Amino acid sequence: MSSPINKVLIADDIEQECVDILKQNGIEVTVKTKQTKEQLLETLPQHDAVIVRSATKITADLLAASAGKLKLVGRAGTGVDNIDVPAATANKILVMNTPQANSRSAAELTCTLILSLSRHVPQAAASMKAGKWARKDFMGEEVYGRTLAVLGLGRIGTEVAIRLQAFGMRVIGYDPIVTKEQAQAKNIELLPLEQIWPQADYITVHVPLIKQTENLINKETLALCKKGVRIINVARGGIVNEQDLVESLNNGHAKGAAFDVFEPEPPTYREFVDHPLVIATPHLGASTIDAQLRVASEIADNIVQYNKGTVLGVL
Ligand code: NAD
Ligand code: MLT
Repeated sequence: MSSPINKVLIADDIEQECVDILKQNGIEVTVKTKQTKEQLLETLPQHDAVIVRSATKITADLLAASAGKLKLVGRAGTGVDNIDVPAATANKILVMNTPQANSRSAAELTCTLILSLSRHVPQAAASMKAGKWARKDFMGEEVYGRTLAVLGLGRIGTEVAIRLQAFGMRVIGYDPIVTKEQAQAKNIELLPLEQIWPQADYITVHVPLIKQTENLINKETLALCKKGVRIINVARGGIVNEQDLVESLNNGHAKGAAFDVFEPEPPTYREFVDHPLVIATPHLGASTIDAQLRVASEIADNIVQYNKGTVLGVL
């Protein structure tokens, strides 16, 4: 068995549960968040493992500088796009995440945004706070009978599909590794992308941000969409081209958008965030007490299991 993890650095805000589990298992813990790259270059090689959420970027140079000492990078969450996984592998450093711990929370936020889009809830609430009673300004439409396209039928995409079927939505979807039969078993019609664009009233993306999914929704694909389409992104900034979407909202082709994630974060493209047809939340998909307790305890448990020789949640 490889040598045990004795010292863990917690580099992003995480629930106390994580610290408690590690300490109860005899592991020394340093909590030091919001570190600069220079500080990380010093602190990382002093630890056997580091735990991050999404704020700290574990880059190739940090990993190279920590090689030989750092054995493990733990991501308390799903996406590992803030960790250079190939560089970790090259330096014999294990990367672990907690891929299921926040799926339900992310799916619930997605459904909240879709229903908010259909009924203009944030805009109507803001108008009430401004002292208005503008009932005529916020005519909505039912989601019942409308078509939801889910791009990426993994953990979150599937949970979203199941929940919105309960509202009477027809769900179509695309995922290169899912078979027609697997989709059918969940009442989802699997279609190629070219058939998805013209049919969907709502398109929600639940894919990882990789080369193949960057700019998946852009000027060309938006032009193939139904007039009145609404786009939802609770996955990662960069999957939908925000500039192209603003153009589509401005020319009346797209009817609305709801985004939890941006490129970069916090977002600098204010024309998108401030657009009256856009609902924006500050990366809240996993921000529930439930998900945060789960990611914190799961990543700590995984490290404890690693020390016992059972490795869980490794990428
Ligand atoms: P998952 O791995 O379970 O599912 C992703 C699916 O996308 C897979 O089935 C995969 O085959 C599919 N896919 C890959 N390339 C594709 C393509 N080109 N077209 C269509 N499908 C493709 O992942 P998940 O746990 O469901 O997470 C989905 C996304 O949500 C990730 O980007 C993750 O980082 C993000 N996320 C965001 C939040 C948040 O706080 N907003 C919280 C959790 C996860
Ligand atoms: C994730 O990938 O887990 C989410 O984006 C949430 C987070 O970063 O905490």
